[in-house]
Amino acid sequence: MSRRESILREMGLAPLWRQRGRAVREEMSEMAPAAPSPDHAATPAQDARAQRIAGMGWDDLAAAVASCRDCRLCEQRKQAVLGVGDPEADWLFVGEGPGAEEDERGEPFVGQAGKLLDAMLAAIDLKRGRKVYIGNVVKCRPPGNRTPQAEETSACFPYLQRQIELIRPKLIVALGKPAAETLLGTEVKVGAARGRLFDYRGIPLIVTYHPAYLLRNLTDKAKSWEDLCYARKTMANQADGN
Ligand code: URA
Ligand code: SF4
Repeated sequence: MSRRESILREMGLAPLWRQRGRAVREEMSEMAPAAPSPDHAATPAQDARAQRIAGMGWDDLAAAVASCRDCRLCEQRKQAVLGVGDPEADWLFVGEGPGAEEDERGEPFVGQAGKLLDAMLAAIDLKRGRKVYIGNVVKCRPPGNRTPQAEETSACFPYLQRQIELIRPKLIVALGKPAAETLLGTEVKVGAARGRLFDYRGIPLIVTYHPAYLLRNLTDKAKSWEDLCYARKTMANQADGN
């Protein structure tokens, strides 16, 4: 038994990772109907586009996103917002989409929700840009900050997928339902998904509330603190195993 395994076992955490994954998958398969998976039913043109994006480096990706017109969110944006942070980050935080200030400044999470996200990061000794990358499921601002629609998240998802491949984070934190559903390709209830370990293509993924939601629901801030502690513990377990 490896040192990591024996520590995890002592902490009552092993083989929870696998058990959890299975339990969650079983539970989720009962949740019908599943959200449309971005990988499903792609047309040949969409496949070719996804393949092209999957081969891009950072410069090409930034240029492609900046000039992208592949969903209707391009119509009202001031600029597309790719993401910000350490290209070799251990931590990847994924939000929903740019708001007004982000659209103006070209950086994710710089408005009110962003201030809360920065405070959340600080609470677990993290800082924007230092081993941390912050991105969104859609790169262009949905008008009036509405929730992005399925066609928009699926059109934009290849960019996030490529970002994740380039970054290779050790842990992904999905902030809110659209991020969780896009990354997991299934319907997710944040309240039920919190405190569980999911898997995105071999990378551990956890789900917590979106900071904008927390601004409106102060009582759930305590839960988000629990989630951050869980994230930190999950990362520590990861680091121990690597
Ligand atoms: N909300 C998000 O989901 N992303 C941002 O970048 C800003 C607010
Ligand atoms: Fe392109 Fe994504 Fe912007 Fe849609 S949201 S136009 S897919 S970059």
